[in-house]
Amino acid sequence: MDLFYWIIVLIGYLTAFYFLFYSFVIAISFFQQVPFVPLEKQAIKFAISLLNITKDDMFLDVGSGDGRVVRRVVRSFPYVSATGIEYNKLLNYFAKLQSVFYPNANLLSHDAYTFSYKKYNKIFIYLTSDMISKLLPKILKDTPDDAVIVSSYFSPEYTSSKIGVTEKKYRINGKIKSFFVITKNGNRSSKR
Ligand SMILES: C[S@@+](CC[C@H](N)C(=O)[O-])C[C@H]1O[C@@H](n2cnc3c(N)ncnc32)[C@H](O)[C@@H]1O
Repeated sequence: MDLFYWIIVLIGYLTAFYFLFYSFVIAISFFQQVPFVPLEKQAIKFAISLLNITKDDMFLDVGSGDGRVVRRVVRSFPYVSATGIEYNKLLNYFAKLQSVFYPNANLLSHDAYTFSYKKYNKIFIYLTSDMISKLLPKILKDTPDDAVIVSSYFSPEYTSSKIGVTEKKYRINGKIKSFFVITKNGNRSSKR
C-alpha cells in the first residue's frame, strides 16, 4: 500500500515538473525573434486538408514548435513521412518526447534559413510575415516542381507568373483568417 502511494506521488511530481518545465520553455521562446505560438486544432486540420496529402508525399513543417502539426499529419496519414524543423533545441526536445509513439514523425533541430528543402513537396509554414517573406524565395527555389506550400502569409509584391497563389479563408473563434496555397508554375497538381 505504501509503495503504491509513493509511486502515485512520484508520478504526480514528475508530471507537474514536466508541465512546469514545458511552460518555461514556451515562455522563454518569446525572447526569440519568432516565438512558439501554437496553431489551433481546427486551423491545423484545415491547413492539412489544403495540402491534399497522398502516398509518397514528403511533408515538412517549417518551425515545428512542439511538433503538433507533424503528429497530426502522421495520425491522419500513417503512410506518409512527416518532418518538422525547429531551431529552439529545448522545444524540439519536447516535440520528440511527445512523438515517441509516432515513428514516421521526424523532428529535427535545424535553422530554416540553412535547411535544404529539396525532397519536400508538401510544406506548411506558420511564422511571422517578415520571416516568411525572407524564406519563401529559398523554399520555392529548393523544392520540386510539384511542391505545394500552405503558408499563413503571402506578400502580394511577390506575385509572379511562375507561382500560383490561392487565398483560403477560414473562421476561428469568430474571426476570419487565411492560409495561402502556393504552387510552383501555377501548378495545382501534387502527383509525383
Ligand atoms: C508560430 S510557431 C509555429 C509552431 C507550429 N508550426 C504550429 O503551428 O503549432 C513558430 C515556430 O518557429 C520556430 N522558428 C523560428 N525561427 C526559426 C528558424 N529560423 N528555424 C527553425 N524554426 C524557427 C519557433 O521557435 C517557433 O516554434
